[in-house]
Amino acid sequence: MDQELVIHIPAARLDRALPHLAAAAGGPAGIVCEQARETLRLDGLRCLVYAMRGSGEHVRAPLVYPFVRLDDFNFQEGGRAAHLLPGIDWLVLGGDPEKLSRLALEAARALSTAGRPATVRVAPFVSIAGGLPQEREPGDTVFEFRKSAENFNQADWLQNAALLTSLPEDRWADAGVANTVDQFEVLAPVLERYLPRPPRVIVDLGCGLGQTARSLARRYPDARVLGLDSSAEAIKAAQSVFRLPNLSFGLADLSRPLDLAPGAIDCLVSVNALPYAQDQLGAARELFSLLSPDGLLLNLCRAEESHQLYDFPRGLLLPTNTQLFVSDWARAAGRAGLGTKLWGAPMGLSSSFYTAKPFEVFASALDAYARAHRHDGFGGYACSCSHVLLVHGARVPRTALPAVARQDNHLLRLDLILGGAARLPKELQRAAIAAWLGNARGLDLYNEALDFMAALLPRSAPLLRAALGPLLEAQPAAM
Ligand SMILES: C[S@@+](CC[C@H](N)C(=O)[O-])C[C@H]1O[C@@H](n2cnc3c(N)ncnc32)[C@H](O)[C@@H]1O
Repeated sequence: MDQELVIHIPAARLDRALPHLAAAAGGPAGIVCEQARETLRLDGLRCLVYAMRGSGEHVRAPLVYPFVRLDDFNFQEGGRAAHLLPGIDWLVLGGDPEKLSRLALEAARALSTAGRPATVRVAPFVSIAGGLPQEREPGDTVFEFRKSAENFNQADWLQNAALLTSLPEDRWADAGVANTVDQFEVLAPVLERYLPRPPRVIVDLGCGLGQTARSLARRYPDARVLGLDSSAEAIKAAQSVFRLPNLSFGLADLSRPLDLAPGAIDCLVSVNALPYAQDQLGAARELFSLLSPDGLLLNLCRAEESHQLYDFPRGLLLPTNTQLFVSDWARAAGRAGLGTKLWGAPMGLSSSFYTAKPFEVFASALDAYARAHRHDGFGGYACSCSHVLLVHGARVPRTALPAVARQDNHLLRLDLILGGAARLPKELQRAAIAAWLGNARGLDLYNEALDFMAALLPRSAPLLRAALGPLLEAQPAAM
């Protein structure tokens, strides 16, 4: 059985794909094509469990071509590539048949044993039914990947520093360059609310240029503020630009234990940096142990679910940073005896993440939305939030996190959040749909792909149909 690669494919795509797959299998002897079946039940498929190393989050799915594209993400694989693992079904929903056949050829080679070539069994289907249960099942293959250890965020720190110092301070916000925005205003109300006493030690982890650390040092002149980052250039720039008696900067890599005593930190702040930890649960455990008994940890980050509005089909089967944060960090906080509060923030919403063609239309609609909501402050978590702020501390109430409840799995949460897009202003919805269409075109999505997503994300199905329907009409089967 393990020497067989089973490829489920829409019957309508068979004629085009079969010659490519036959070539991949090494000739007609190595390929078996079944009769088309009316319905493919998703819940009967042999699945992979995609799990990020050191996280409790996982997604259970077959290998879905072309939706699983680990290569485009900031990940590195642990062992064999996902498509080379035995004992999993492949579900083909469109995409480039030549690329598919290359993957199939590699897989067939990997599955062959000495003298016994693998068989490629092609199983056509007409429609899809059922869901994908997310609980692990006996026999599931685990595919563990990890965040890359590489620091992908290498801004030109010296240039950023020069830009800021060329402007009067009250115009720094105008610079609008990622990595120069001071997020103190976002953090301040939370600090006011939850810090029980003036802090003695504050750490800004992944501080970059150090602008937020600088504001913390000004607001708390009696505290020692330490900005830490793994980029030597960032630290050098920070040291040259921001000089205050209670502020210092140093090198530290959050993927390794920090050189700080347990309980030493009263307030640990991190802005758009904790996603770089390779082991989320491990990092959370370590950082919580560094907090003083009434200490606070504030994790402000881009909400990747908002990216799903335009990056949706590619990210579908992998947990996003937000999901990792919400489930792993809240879980680790609970274990450390700390409560967790989750906010969504419309401010800080930056169109720069969306300006690449074909998303300009989405970027300008987002900008307009952000301008209108700039002063709304924090609210419940929704797919229109550009950022999430997770606040952990002993004085933070241990409330449930209703918007992204932990007992739900990754796909259910995504469904809930995308379903929420139906409540967004019409122009933003339209822009998101246009962006989806652009992305979907890149991925060659077809009717079956829409059926698959609708089966996976039933609450979002109307929105998906609205988003992808026009594409389906305009561009019938190309594969
Ligand atoms: C998006 S920037 C944010 C910088 C700053 N907090 C801000 O808001 O402008 C991410 C920062 O994380 C740092 N970083 C990346 N990997 C890291 C690691 N493993 N340990 C510590 N810092 C890291 C980068 O050097 C970069 O300064």
